[in-house]
This record gives sequence, C-alpha cells and structure tokens, in this order.
Amino acid sequence: MPFKQDLQEALRLGLAQGPVQAISACQLQAPEIAEALSLDGMSLGRTSHRLRNPATASPEWVRPVLEDYVASSSDRASRIVVLPNKRLGYVEPILLQPVCLTCHGDVLAPDIESRINELYPEDRAVGFRVGDLRGVFWIEFPAEE
Ligand code: HEC
Repeated sequence: MPFKQDLQEALRLGLAQGPVQAISACQLQAPEIAEALSLDGMSLGRTSHRLRNPATASPEWVRPVLEDYVASSSDRASRIVVLPNKRLGYVEPILLQPVCLTCHGDVLAPDIESRINELYPEDRAVGFRVGDLRGVFWIEFPAEE
C-alpha cells in the first residue's frame, strides 16, 4: 500500500507540473521509493511483460505469476507464493487506469512521445487500453516465525 500511495503521489505531483515533467518523476522517483520502503529484509518493486525501462529487475519467482496473468485475463487475484529460506512473496496485478493513458496509451502527445523515445529507446509500454494488465507489484518478505 505505501508503495502504491507514494507512487501515485509522485505521479500526481509530477502531472501537476505537466506530463513531460511527470516522466522524470516516474523515472527518478519510482526506484527511490522502492528502495526507501525495502526495509527489514523486505524488498519490493514493479515489473511488466511489456517494459518501458529494460533495467526494471524483479526476482525470478515473479515471472511465472506474471505469465499466468498474461495468459488468463480472468485471473486478476493477488497471490502469495511460498519461497525458499522461510520467505514469502506477494504479487498483485496492475491494471491500466485512464490517468495512465497519457504515457502508456495508443496515441501520445508529440512532446511526451519524443521524451519517452529519447529516455527509453526500447520502450514496449505503449498501446495499452483502460483495464489492460500493465504489470505487477511484487513484495518479498520473511515469513513470521
Ligand atoms: C507522465 C507519464 C506517465 C504516466 C502518466 C504513467 N507512467 Fe508508468 N511509466 C512512465 C515512465 C517514464 C516509466 C519508466 C520508469 C523507469 O525508468 O523506471 C514508467 C514505468 C511504469 C511501470 C514499470 C515497468 C516498466 O514498464 O518499466 C509500470 C508498471 C507503470 N509505469 C504503470 C503505470 C500505471 C499503472 C500508470 C497509471 C496509474 C502509469 N504508469 C502512468 C511514465 C508514466
């Protein structure tokens, strides 16, 4: 929850300055927020089957869950995964909302498109529609004794 709230707040503040500025908020703040919240042996992040930033790394165990969501559009329930070394994983689908279309939709404003192409020459994260699977949030944490 705090990860989602902080990301939404960063996006909201960024968008208040204009969508081109908000691109920098997504680029710079998302990794910082994830790092700040990764405490006490816990780590978290987000990933996608269609990445914008190819450097967005996630643990191996997240991939099969993401693949399941991609394969079945009716499967959107969050999951708990039992991991080795008394750890647990949590994965939650991220669905595209109207506010996301500015930077992930079919048609982008020219200034946004050129800034994104400049920063992310391998961008695969456009062409989404509202309600589409955009990716997942994941968390890895120690199981309680
Ligand atoms: C102002 C433009 C903008 C808006 C609006 C926006 N994004 Fe993004 N999004 C980006 C950028 C830029 C990145 C790459 C960030 C990075 O460098 O890690 C990104 C990355 C992501 C990622 C990480 C995986 C990847 O592809 O690198 C997810 C998931 C994501 N966005 C989902 C969303 C969702 C859901 C919304 C709406 C709530 C949204 N975005 C709105 C610009 C935007």
